[in-house]
Amino acid sequence: MTDPTTRPTKPRLTVLGTGYLGATHAICMAVLGYEVLGVDTDKRKIQALASGEVPFFEPGLPEMLRKALDSGRLRFTTDLAEAGEFGDVHFVCVGTPQLPGSTAADLSYVEGVVRDLAPYLRRRSLVVGKSTVPVGTAQRLTRLLQDQAPAGHDVELAWNPEFLREGFAVEDTLRPDRLVFGVASPWALAQLEATFAPLLEAGVPSVEMDLATAELVKVAANSFLATKISFINAMAEVCEATGADVQLLAKALAFDDRIGGRFLKPGLGFGGGCLPKDIRAFLHRAEELGVGKSVAFLRQVDLINRRRRERTVDLVRQEAGGDLAGVRVCALGAAFKPDSDDIRDAPALDVSRMLQEEGADVRVYDPQAMENARRAYPDLHYADGVMEAAEGAAVVLLLTEWDQFRSIDPDQLASVVAGRVIVDGRHALDAEAWRAAGWVYRALGRAS
Ligand code: UDX
Repeated sequence: MTDPTTRPTKPRLTVLGTGYLGATHAICMAVLGYEVLGVDTDKRKIQALASGEVPFFEPGLPEMLRKALDSGRLRFTTDLAEAGEFGDVHFVCVGTPQLPGSTAADLSYVEGVVRDLAPYLRRRSLVVGKSTVPVGTAQRLTRLLQDQAPAGHDVELAWNPEFLREGFAVEDTLRPDRLVFGVASPWALAQLEATFAPLLEAGVPSVEMDLATAELVKVAANSFLATKISFINAMAEVCEATGADVQLLAKALAFDDRIGGRFLKPGLGFGGGCLPKDIRAFLHRAEELGVGKSVAFLRQVDLINRRRRERTVDLVRQEAGGDLAGVRVCALGAAFKPDSDDIRDAPALDVSRMLQEEGADVRVYDPQAMENARRAYPDLHYADGVMEAAEGAAVVLLLTEWDQFRSIDPDQLASVVAGRVIVDGRHALDAEAWRAAGWVYRALGRAS
């Protein structure tokens, strides 16, 4: 850590991009005592946030937003000139989605915001990337920034990857496992230490490194997590071929501290706005760098993961007697995971879509993601609740493990369905309890 006496006191922060990541970061930093300006090109998002409304579902965040706005330390704008004038430290929190028709990341938002902000940087300031980017991006952005900013080399770039999980965004921001400070100078490090002082004082470990390593930490972490999930799902495939039980296998593995039980839950696999596109973009970047072979296993990780969706459809088809045409299916879940309304690369909606393509009459219900799902998949049928979705269903399919679904009473559900068949895509239900209530219980990697 740098000498505290040379550390600047509370820098003024801007947060560029107010999606899941940026909004959470802006709000939490204001609650921690910093003056924060949130910036986005989307006027509606900015108006919503400024009036105290979080434009997506994230437990605990609306309360934090109210607290931040009440403190008077959090404001929002669409004006980058104001941001350039106001901020000492500017956080880049815009998305890096997968490019259409490619596995590479789309860097246009990151490059765009840096290019648009640069002309307003007239004094010594730090731009900090939080977005997940291919390794080497920060070096390129540094040149762009220093060429375009009136303050020239007085403006520096740092990388501080974010590891927050949706559904736990507030907790992960206020109490992260670690802080990664990718910097090119002691001055940049001092700015980051001043920015995260409350967390460092609370004992959060920090690791300082060069820019390239900081960019890599994020993709390496997500690759590891994705690999762990696909590992157990690969074991599920082997279990299916042998009559073994992947849930018991995972339970036994988890007692080994070196393996651990987290991210070892078999089922429908991973989705969302991070893991799938991050492993693809990493593979793409590694190939560009001539080290594609080193991470070629990520292609298998992706394939295993995508196969889970097809295998879930297979299970439903099998239980429906071999043909899905006209079969009523109740699909519980649309979000890519519980406690989120995010449907990006959601396994749940993918499965519902595939079932519908085979002619099934699918009724979807999700406690939070209905609006997003309707917008993205207007051709699916939606229900207003579990019972309505299950009415007359030949097969009930659990796709997102919301608590509300875990606590469904099998006897009650039995009273509205046409057939007592449950396919548990998330290994979330008590198989014995459902079987005792007369249901056929099926899950990938478990004997029927
Ligand atoms: C992830 C990383 O965890 C986070 O550190 C990073 O910053 C962003 O990407 P997130 O996308 O919010 O976070 O979701 P996460 O909780 O990691 O779950 C990802 C997916 O994996 C979900 O679809 C989940 O259902 C699935 N999953 C998770 C499994 O299938 N099995 C598991 O054991 C764990």
